[in-house]
Amino acid sequence: MTNVKAFRLVYVNFASPNAEKLKDYYIRTMGYVLTKEESGVIYLSNGFDHHNIIITPALEKKVLSYGYQLDGKLTHEEVQAELKEIGISSIVKTDAIPGVSELVELHDPDGNTVHIFNEIEHPAPGFGQSGIVPQKLGHLAFYAKDFKNVIKFYEDALGFMFSDQIGEDFANFLTCNTDHHVINIVASETKSQTLHHIAFQLKDASHHTISSDLLAKHGHPVIWGPSRHTSGHNIATYHYDPDGNVVELFTDMDVYVPELGIYEPRPWHEFLPLKPRVWDGLSAWGTEFEVDLANV
Ligand SMILES: [Fe+2]
Repeated sequence: MTNVKAFRLVYVNFASPNAEKLKDYYIRTMGYVLTKEESGVIYLSNGFDHHNIIITPALEKKVLSYGYQLDGKLTHEEVQAELKEIGISSIVKTDAIPGVSELVELHDPDGNTVHIFNEIEHPAPGFGQSGIVPQKLGHLAFYAKDFKNVIKFYEDALGFMFSDQIGEDFANFLTCNTDHHVINIVASETKSQTLHHIAFQLKDASHHTISSDLLAKHGHPVIWGPSRHTSGHNIATYHYDPDGNVVELFTDMDVYVPELGIYEPRPWHEFLPLKPRVWDGLSAWGTEFEVDLANV
């Protein structure tokens, strides 16, 4: 274990073969705000941070990096030294990304590029005036072959807590704050460095209706949901962005109370107190959908 402590997911950098289309989707459909465009790279904000989504034009789609903010108790040099002690190499990059003057770059055991940093600029461009306008970028789910080592990496290197599981060795949830999960590591025998979905938090259940209407109008119909998940109890819908990445919109996510090791009790919880456990199935309402969300 290190003393390095991530506490929130700040950004995801998408390589995109349809960068202009993806930019249009994030601005017009998702209600994100353009903060910078430099050498073709597009930086979009959800109201506060310099960016929460980066779109980098490329021939093939993939996730180039994930950015997590640290609690700021260690300098970046101290972070590197702590990581080195558990055998993880990293490099410090200066002015590599607008809005982040310095970051530490490392790779998880699945090969994903992870950025960690103490500070990101907050130009606070304000929330979008139209589109869905989620409250925040909430979590990521990605496939990993060597998922047990990937889980161990996020726990040992970045201070994440294991928070829940669907099926033994299927979907593995970890958090670095009080959200039920910030990362979902989906075990796979064939896929690595592959996004399963990216998720944004809505303000309430009525926002699902508004966003689903808007998604249909913009040609991104909901493919799964709305339904309440078992693990996390978030009410979720899923759709595809123009690159075919699966996007989840959710509300009502379970809130973890680390002091008690339980989730804040809710009327819809199947167990009281609700503790991290192994769940069976994806929908707490028991509804089945045509799209197999376990295999998108
Ligand atoms: Fe999710």
